[in-house]
Amino acid sequence: METRNIALITGVSRKEGLGYETARQLAGQGYKVIITARDHQKAEQLAASMQQDHLDAVSMALDINHADSIRKCVQQVTEQFGRLDVLINNAGVMTDFTSTIATADLEVVKSCFDSNVFGPWQVTQAFLPLLRKSSQPRIVNVTSGMGSYDDPAFGLHHFPGALTTYALTKLTFNALTVKAAKELKDEGILVNAVCPGFTATYEGLKEQGARPVEEGAKSIVWAATLPADGPTGGFYRDGKPLPW
Ligand SMILES: NC(=O)c1ccc[n+]([C@@H]2O[C@H](COP(=O)([O-])OP(=O)(O)OC[C@H]3O[C@@H](n4cnc5c(N)ncnc54)[C@H](OP(=O)(O)O)[C@@H]3O)[C@@H](O)[C@H]2O)c1
Repeated sequence: METRNIALITGVSRKEGLGYETARQLAGQGYKVIITARDHQKAEQLAASMQQDHLDAVSMALDINHADSIRKCVQQVTEQFGRLDVLINNAGVMTDFTSTIATADLEVVKSCFDSNVFGPWQVTQAFLPLLRKSSQPRIVNVTSGMGSYDDPAFGLHHFPGALTTYALTKLTFNALTVKAAKELKDEGILVNAVCPGFTATYEGLKEQGARPVEEGAKSIVWAATLPADGPTGGFYRDGKPLPW
């Protein structure tokens, strides 16, 4: 039986991404990390790179938009570990950069909701039986300050820019977090939403003021490693509550 805490992270396909850095930090704290990506080869390479640094990682294929892929991944985790301690819903898309309410292509909007809301919802449902086998289960939903009303920098009331579709998906994901937390509280499953902050996961973002990926990932790791009496149903950045 695996004695380490087991964490599964969705959307780990890039070395520069928050998912990979979160995996590294969790493994650094002694977690066994399951790195997943829809392109398994990418996850495999990243797990190998962690193993070279003596970090405990395995890889699996997981496309959060495909029920069959989710089912196979759940089956693999069941066979290899028999439980899951932490689920990190990190995968997401930022499409439709210039969309506005007036002009958005609703087919693109729907596909963005598929990736940022229905995908993680499906993944959460599928992994619940394995999370219920953990003594300290945690779910971390990686959302965004853009999905709040009052985040001073990016909230709906304050951010004048586009990315309307993305904001609406993350707002919904925040709401889903609250409902899930209430529903699962009595089972001891802590569910929180985390905004990593504006993070330099792509070229050019650092120059626009984005923070290093190590800092963004720390917020996610904080929520993944909460103690049993930790909060649930909250929205956090850097371990501090954010306005909804
Ligand atoms: N960077 C920021 O400033 C920032 C701020 C707030 C929130 N966030 C959130 O943080 C999370 C990570 O973002 P990031 O900045 O690290 O960018 P990223 O590296 O592009 O991360 C997104 C990941 O999601 C994966 N993905 C997309 N659709 C998927 C699917 N159907 N199944 C499985 N994986 C899928 C992508 O994989 P592919 O390579 O296969 O497309 C990619 O690995 C996202 O949820 C994002 O919204 C980021």
